[in-house]
Amino acid sequence: MSAPLPWRRVAVLGARGAIGGALVAQLAAGGAERVYALARGTPWREDGPLCHGPVDVLDETALAAAAARLADEGTLDAVIVATGALHAPGMMPEKSLRDLNLAALQQAFTINCAGPALAFKHFLPLLPRQTPGVMASLSARVGSIGDNRKGGWYGYRAAKAALNMVVRCTAIEAARRYPQAVIAGLHPGTVDSPLSQPFQGFVPAGQLFTPQQSAARLLAVLARLRPEDSGKCFAHDGAEIPP
Ligand SMILES: NC(=O)c1ccc[n+]([C@@H]2O[C@H](COP(=O)([O-])OP(=O)(O)OC[C@H]3O[C@@H](n4cnc5c(N)ncnc54)[C@H](OP(=O)(O)O)[C@@H]3O)[C@@H](O)[C@H]2O)c1
Repeated sequence: MSAPLPWRRVAVLGARGAIGGALVAQLAAGGAERVYALARGTPWREDGPLCHGPVDVLDETALAAAAARLADEGTLDAVIVATGALHAPGMMPEKSLRDLNLAALQQAFTINCAGPALAFKHFLPLLPRQTPGVMASLSARVGSIGDNRKGGWYGYRAAKAALNMVVRCTAIEAARRYPQAVIAGLHPGTVDSPLSQPFQGFVPAGQLFTPQQSAARLLAVLARLRPEDSGKCFAHDGAEIPP
């Protein structure tokens, strides 16, 4: 990342993930004064401009505590929620309706939609009221209903579509109190990470990004967004993804 980024104080939730970690590194290298790198089970620790700390997006007590600690130091110019899961014990992307089960569907919705929604709830008040701010969540192109031509991956697709609706609702609500804020979903491309690892065999040659490549593209996209873009989902190349 060569061009300086426009944010002084930023937070990344899910900072231990492949993309989350790359975002943290590039935000720090890009000149941010303060980068909060929040991840499950991480004790508070200072490291130059970095401040590591704990957050579990499914634990509102933890979210509130993290948000309160950051609020003590001032507002945030950017908040990026980089959590999510495509597979987990007992949860694999479904090829057919026959594969659906309630527990896996609930798990997909909980981590991919409820978690970021609760993170938005607790971190929106940290955006500045009178100056630009951005709050984004990693979504996925497969959450686009209009773009869905292959089917399958019912739980993950539906949860990301629901997340995109949360992004839109948050943008509408935020516009009243934070008129310069942008709330956005982001599609990082297909990225080499534990999340995509079991499915990388299906990725055409040359189309698998490193986390560093994806993070650089996402930060460049975020830096270009304006309040009129709020509520939408954008891919790593800046193109808007249809709802
Ligand atoms: N990789 C891709 O090709 C791709 C494509 C499209 C969209 N995405 C989206 O990009 C995002 C990041 O994916 P990734 O590839 O970086 O995956 P990853 O390396 O598996 O990172 C996901 C991170 O989410 C964190 N997480 C899960 N549940 C959490 C919770 N309750 N509280 C806090 N953190 C939690 C995990 O934390 P722990 O470290 O504590 O387990 C993990 O670090 C996801 O939303 C994914 O859907 C990825």
